[in-house]
Amino acid sequence: MYSSYQLPIQSTPQPPPPPVRRHRSARYYAHQLRESFATRVSKLACSIFLFLLFLIGMITFILWLSLRPHRPRFHIRDFSIPAITQANGFQNAQINFNVTARNPNANIGVYYDSTHVSVWYDDQSVGATPVLFPFYQGPKNTTIIDGSLSGATLTVDNQRWQEFVSDRSQGRVVFKLEVTSVIRFKISSWNSKRHTMHANCDAEVGSDGSILETSKNKRCPVYFS
Ligand SMILES: *[C@@H]1O[C@H](CO)[C@@H](O)[C@H](O)[C@H]1NC(C)=O
Ligand SMILES: *[C@@H]1O[C@H](CO)[C@@H](O)[C@H](O)[C@H]1NC(C)=O
Repeated sequence: MYSSYQLPIQSTPQPPPPPVRRHRSARYYAHQLRESFATRVSKLACSIFLFLLFLIGMITFILWLSLRPHRPRFHIRDFSIPAITQANGFQNAQINFNVTARNPNANIGVYYDSTHVSVWYDDQSVGATPVLFPFYQGPKNTTIIDGSLSGATLTVDNQRWQEFVSDRSQGRVVFKLEVTSVIRFKISSWNSKRHTMHANCDAEVGSDGSILETSKNKRCPVYFS
């Protein structure tokens, strides 16, 4: 049942606030002064700390910029498939290649743990071969990667060969040469983890089976996977 005498909730009247003290003691002011001094000191310490942090960050960034390894640079120097002038040349065909790999770093060496070269035509592999033994490339050194694909390392059948011959009659056959290496960077005495690196070279040959001037000595884009 409702009580008709239920009163709405009301706050009890507050006692009036005590009068503000107008006069503060000398001790109070001394305390205030000490406090503001402490605040200034801690603000200063904070600024110094932030500045040092910023300085360390800058130094680390500059060190990183100057020490960070640059990827090796690849250029295709030569590429040829002499048998292309023969309509039935695929049985004893040979592809010759010459690529240079340069380590552009001044203080970082590169270990090539394994390297292989593959040749592509129309996004299909037409041959692959391992090249070089594992080797170390010092700073600012260039290594020549050359060799040839023939016999078992060349997987070209008559049908594919006829495509080459037909392209050749148009003036050019477009191949791609890919160098895949597993490398590690050597920074001082520390070795990085292994990276798989790919260099993709355009290798277009003319009707004599030699590399065209437009492809010769071109830089090959490099990416990691
Ligand atoms: C490969 O190319 C480099 C640079 O052009 C050259 O010095 C070297 O003699 C070439 N190697 C072969 C086997 O042709
Ligand atoms: C790097 O190249 C320089 C000069 O081209 C040569 O003297 C040096 O022996 C090479 N270092 C390595 C590790 O191949």
